[in-house]
Amino acid sequence: MIKLDRKDFLTLKDFTKQEIEDLIDYSIELKEQKSAGELKQKLKNKNIALLFEKSSTRTRCAFVTAAFNEGANPEFLGKNDIQFGKKETTKDTARVLGRMFDGIGFRGFKHETVETLAEYSGVPVWNGLTEKFHPTQILADFMTVKENFGKIAGTKFAYVGDGRNNMANSLMIGAAKVGMDFRIIAPESLFPSQELVSLCEQYATQSGASITLTENIEQGVKGADVIYTDVWASMGEEAKIPERIKLLKPYKITREMLALTGNPDVIFMHCLPSFHNLETEVSKKYSEICEVEEEVFESENSKVFDEAENRLWTIEAVMVATS
Ligand code: CP
Ligand code: NVA
Repeated sequence: MIKLDRKDFLTLKDFTKQEIEDLIDYSIELKEQKSAGELKQKLKNKNIALLFEKSSTRTRCAFVTAAFNEGANPEFLGKNDIQFGKKETTKDTARVLGRMFDGIGFRGFKHETVETLAEYSGVPVWNGLTEKFHPTQILADFMTVKENFGKIAGTKFAYVGDGRNNMANSLMIGAAKVGMDFRIIAPESLFPSQELVSLCEQYATQSGASITLTENIEQGVKGADVIYTDVWASMGEEAKIPERIKLLKPYKITREMLALTGNPDVIFMHCLPSFHNLETEVSKKYSEICEVEEEVFESENSKVFDEAENRLWTIEAVMVATS
């Protein structure tokens, strides 16, 4: 079991390489303990609020199942369930929730909201996605990398697609902290902000990471151990779908792109949900929105459901380590 000397988990900027690695190792331990029937309930009698403005399958279910695994009581509060943001300020909601709950999981639009909850609730606050960052997802992603390659530092990780969304930002921060060879392959108009790139370059000088931004797919994916993508328009950006399709169509993950890595053992990863065929409402409306072809998504190289399961173990590790 590990304990961190801070209560909140808002962005990986706040954590050291060692802390990130310890959280991942602890997540692997929890996964093993559960399957051996040896999991101890370390959050018994704790009450956990899950305040979600945006929809979710994996993050919500990971918080709920992790809470039950550890003996805590989760309460889901959707955006229409409470006064939050309608009749009450975030600061007041934070102070009320902090009097009744022992921890708050938040998913929403503005990163400032999760910061306000952390500032005023007095209890641990865990970021389950904002428009800027999705840090618990990165722990699950790096755990999956470790399960596949036995290490995280030094792996060659190529993120292809919308290079300035919450996933690209958070992967870049995490990769720079732990020492990966990290590449963002995207049209230049979708590169991450220069401010964040400069910060990550500073982290990289400490960890030995390298950060590359390129529009060139062939150069960007060469030698990669991991090809990672996300949807082309994130939640809240639906109006941008037609524009993003035009920009990102050449960056769709295909078997040819996997072959360009020159690495037969390359793995495919995606935070999910994914538009990989025409079966969802959105992909029926926009038939070209597909960021990965079905043959890659369903291939042996695809680790997306291991990654999804690992959301549970990593969120459980974060809750225990910060409570
Ligand atoms: N990856 C992820 O955060 O999935 P959900 O949107 O289903 O929570
Ligand atoms: N970038 C995506 C991630 C979903 C898990 C979004 O914010 O919608």
